[in-house]
Amino acid sequence: MVERPWAFPELTGTGRLRMHALRPAAALPLDGRWRFQLLPSPEAAVTADWEEADVPGCWTMGGTDDLPQYTNFQMPWPGLPPNPPAANPTGVYEREVAVPADWAGRRIILHVGAAESVLIAQVGGVTAGIGKDSHLASEFDVTELVRPGETTTVRLTVVKWSDATFIEDQDQWWHGGITRSVLLYSTDPLHLADVRVRARRSGDLRVDVDVRSGHGPLPGGWRVSATLGGLELGLDTAYGAMLAERDQISTWQGRVRLRGTVPGVRPWSAELPTLYDLVVRLHDAEGTVTDETTLRVGFRDVEVVGRDLLVNGERVYIRGVNRHDFHPRTGRVVSEADMRADLVTMKRFGFNAIRTSHYPNDPVLLDLADELGLYVVDEANIESHAYAREICDDPAYLPAFVDRVSRMARRDVNHPCVIIWSLGNESDYGANHDAAAGWLRAFDPTRPVQYEGAIKYDFGSGPVSDIICPMYASIEEITAHARSGRQDRPLILCEYSHAMGNSNGTLADYWAAIESTPGLQGGFIWEFWDHGLLQRLDDGRPAQCQSQPTDPDRPPGGPYADGVAGPGYRWAYGGDFGDEPNDGNFCADGVVFPDRTPKPAMYEHRELAAPLRLTADAGVIRVHNRQHFRDLSWLAAEWRLDADGAAVRTLPAELPDVPPGGSALLTPPAALIGHLPGDGEVWLTLRVTVRDDQPWAAAGTTMCLPQVHLRAERRALPLRTSGTVGGPPIEVDHDGLLVHPLLAAPPTLSLWRAPTDNDRLAGLGARWADQGLPEPARDPVDVVRDGDRVTVHARYLGGLVVHEQSFTPVTDGILVEETVVLGDALTDVARVGTVFETIGGFDRVSWYGQGPWETYPDRCAGGPVGSHEAAIDELFTPYLRPQESGGRHGVRRFTLTGPAHTLRVRLDRPRQVSFTRYRATDLAAASHHDELVPRPECVVHIDAAHRGLGTASCGPDTLPAFLVGAGTHRWSWTLETT
Ligand code: GAL
Repeated sequence: MVERPWAFPELTGTGRLRMHALRPAAALPLDGRWRFQLLPSPEAAVTADWEEADVPGCWTMGGTDDLPQYTNFQMPWPGLPPNPPAANPTGVYEREVAVPADWAGRRIILHVGAAESVLIAQVGGVTAGIGKDSHLASEFDVTELVRPGETTTVRLTVVKWSDATFIEDQDQWWHGGITRSVLLYSTDPLHLADVRVRARRSGDLRVDVDVRSGHGPLPGGWRVSATLGGLELGLDTAYGAMLAERDQISTWQGRVRLRGTVPGVRPWSAELPTLYDLVVRLHDAEGTVTDETTLRVGFRDVEVVGRDLLVNGERVYIRGVNRHDFHPRTGRVVSEADMRADLVTMKRFGFNAIRTSHYPNDPVLLDLADELGLYVVDEANIESHAYAREICDDPAYLPAFVDRVSRMARRDVNHPCVIIWSLGNESDYGANHDAAAGWLRAFDPTRPVQYEGAIKYDFGSGPVSDIICPMYASIEEITAHARSGRQDRPLILCEYSHAMGNSNGTLADYWAAIESTPGLQGGFIWEFWDHGLLQRLDDGRPAQCQSQPTDPDRPPGGPYADGVAGPGYRWAYGGDFGDEPNDGNFCADGVVFPDRTPKPAMYEHRELAAPLRLTADAGVIRVHNRQHFRDLSWLAAEWRLDADGAAVRTLPAELPDVPPGGSALLTPPAALIGHLPGDGEVWLTLRVTVRDDQPWAAAGTTMCLPQVHLRAERRALPLRTSGTVGGPPIEVDHDGLLVHPLLAAPPTLSLWRAPTDNDRLAGLGARWADQGLPEPARDPVDVVRDGDRVTVHARYLGGLVVHEQSFTPVTDGILVEETVVLGDALTDVARVGTVFETIGGFDRVSWYGQGPWETYPDRCAGGPVGSHEAAIDELFTPYLRPQESGGRHGVRRFTLTGPAHTLRVRLDRPRQVSFTRYRATDLAAASHHDELVPRPECVVHIDAAHRGLGTASCGPDTLPAFLVGAGTHRWSWTLETT
C-alpha cells in the first residue's frame, strides 16, 4: 500500500476495474444525503462529528468553509509537482447500504461516477481501491466485501489536492466533491464485460464482445449473439478462428467478434442522427440468456483525406463550441436535464460540434449528442498548464497520461458522436503524449487524434495531431497557412472567438475566410458558459440548491431574467469568495450567461450557421441549402417586406426542394414585391422556422432570418428639410451646451466607451484613461450665431480634438451637424459620437435599423434590418463585469417614448446607437452588475464611428477596418419632439 497515494503520480488507481463501454442495466442508486465531514487533510483522523452532504455534490458549493476558487493556469497554491499542500481539504462521505439478498452469488460492483481529485473507496471498513481522474468513473469489485441481504457501510474519502491536481490545472473553478452519481450494481460472475462496436455508413457492423468470468476459465458451450432489428450478426471466424472451432468462448477472457451488414442503413450525422438498437446477449450452454445489453449504434465514417476531415465522405464544417461541466448553483454537478438543455441551446443556435473542454464529460452527455446530433471532440483530462514543460516528459506522470487517454477511449468508443479524440489541453508536448497517442491509435484506428500542444509552433508538422487545431489564431494566420502550400491536414481551430463579456467581434469574418479557403474547416468558439456562480450577498457564500434547466428560447433580457438570481444575489467570479490567488472574471467568457440565457453573440452565430442562405443578384433571389446531408423539407418560411422602415407585409414562403449543398431560385410572390411603396430602402427578410417538431426544437422555432436588400435608399436623407423654418430659437448656455426641455444632459462629444473585457485586457482601457478620453477636458468654447443657426466650436484635450457642433431649427425640432477632427495621437479610440441624456420618464424606444438584439460593427451579421421596439431597460446586456453594452448597429432613426413625451431622432445614415440607464463612467466604475444603479434618465449614444469588439481578451483584436482613429469625422442628426 502506498502511504500517501495523493502524492504519488505513478499510482493512477488501485483495485479498479478496467474501464469499459457498458452501462449497468439495473443498479441500486446511492445518490442522496450522505454523512459527511470535511477534514483539514487526508492524514487527519475522522471524528464523530458528522454532518450531511449531497451526493453528487460539491462541498465547495455549500455547507463548508472550503469555498470555490478560480484560477486560470496558475496553480491555486504554491509548491512543485507532485506535492499537494499540507492544508488539503478532504471530504469523508459515508452511508449504509442494504445489499439486496437476491444478489447472492453475483458479482457486486461499486461505481463512483466522478470525484475530485483522489477517491479512496472503503466498504465495510476495508479499502476497495483508489481512483484518480476527476472526470471518469472508478469501479471496484466489492463482492468479497459485502454480504447480500445485509447492510454494509460505504465510505468514500475524497482528497481535494493531489499529484493529479497538477495535470487537472484547467481554467475553471476549483471544487471538491463527488460530482457524478454513485451506484451499486451486480452481474453474473460470467458476464458481458465489454462491447466494442464499429459501424460504418455502408451498413457494415462489427461487434467485439468481451466475456469474463469472475472465477477462472469459462465453461464450454456458452455463446454470444448480437441482433440489430431483424439482423442476427454472424461470427467472424477469421478473427476468432480458434474460438469458433471449439466453443465460441473458451478462455478465461473470451473475446468474440461478430459481423453483419445492415441493408439500406441510414447513416448517422449531426444533421440526421439516426440510431439503431443493437442487442448483445450471452447464452449459456443450454441457450438460456444469462446477460444482455443494448447499445445505441450510429453508422458513420470519419476520416482525414488530405486537408479535409470527412464525415460520411462529406467535408462538413465544424461549427463548434467548447463546453465545461458547469452549473451556477451546483458548481460541477450537472443533471441530465441540464445537459440536454445545453445541447438543445447549441442546436438551436446552429452549433454542430462540442469539444468537451478539457476532460471527458458524463457519458450521458455523449448519449444526448448521439441522440440530438452533435459531433464531439472527446478530450482527455490532462492539463498540466503551470508545469507543462516539466510534466509532459516526466516518466512519473507517464502512467497517468496513458491511463487517462485510454480510459476515456475505452468508455466512449461506441459513440457515433465522438469523431475526434483529444489528448488534453495546454500541457506542452512531450514523450507522455506520444505514449498516449500510440496507445490510442492502436486501440482505435477509426478516429483522428488531435492535440493542440503538438502543433502550435508549426501548424503543419508532427505526427501526433491529425488535425491542425490551433487556438486563437488570427484570420490572417489561418488563411496564410492554408495558402502556403505547406498545409497537409485539416485546420479546425480548437478554440477561437473568445466570448468574454461583449465580444465575438469578427466572427463573420472568420466564417467568410473559412468558407472561401480550402483547408479551413471551422472551429470551436471559446466557450459555452459564463462561469458565474450564484452568490448570496448577505453572507458571500454560494447559493446552493438543486440544478434547474432554464428555457433556451428565452430572449436575452434584463439582468437575472429567469429568477435564478435577483436582488440579494450576484454572479460571482474569481476573488468573490475571498479566493486567493484568483484570475478575476476571466471565467466569464461564454456565449451564454450563467443561467443559460443566450448572449447576443449567439444570434450572430445562428445566422452564420444557418441551414440556408439567400443571395440576390440583379433582383434574382436564390436559396442555398448550406447543410451537408439534409434537404429543406424540415423548414418552413415566411417573407417579410420592410419598405422604408415600416413592416408592410408578411406572406408565407414556399421553400423549393434543394438538395444538400445545392441552390434554387426563390421568387417572392408578386403580391409582396409587385408594387414597392415609396422610394426608400426595401428589405426582404425570410423568417425560417422549424416546420415539424425536432427533438431539440418545437415547430415554429426560428432558425435564421436571412435578408435581401431589395432596394437601396435612393434619397439623400432629408435632414435639412428646407433650410431653417423658424421655430423656437436655439438656446445654448454659456458653455455652448444646448438647452432643451427634454434633455437632462445636452448633446456632447463622446470618444470613449466603458472598456469591454477585450478592451481592458488588451490594454486599451488603460491607454484611453491615460489619454483622458473618459471625460475629456473641454476648453472654453466659441459660439457663433448665423441667423437661426448656432455653431459651437470646442477644443478638447488641449486641442488634440476639435469639435464643431451646429444647431439649426427645422420642422418640429433641431438639426445637429457635427464635425470632429481627431489629432494624430489618437490612433485607436472607442467611438466618435454624441451622447445626451433625456429627462426621466422615457421608457420605450422604437428604432429602424439592425436588431432586435445587440449588434456592433464587427458583430452584426445576425441582426436583421427592420423596425424594432423594446423597453429601454431590456436593451442593456448584463455582462457579468459591467462594460459597454446594449448597442444597436445600422440605426437610421429612433423614437423614445414615455407617458408624457416623445423624442424622435433621424440620422444622416445608418449609425451605431445605444440607449441605457447608465453612463459609460457608471459602467466602468462597477465590478458586478448588482452594483449598478439605473438612472431615471436615458443615456443615448449616437456614434459616427464605433470601434469593433474583436476578441483581444484572449486572441486577435478586431480587424483594421473596424478601428476608429485620427482624422475628420462628420455626422448629423435631427432631434424632434411632439
Ligand atoms: C485557452 C484554454 C482555455 C481557456 C482559454 C481562455 O488557452 O485552453 O481553457 O483558458 O484559453 O479563456
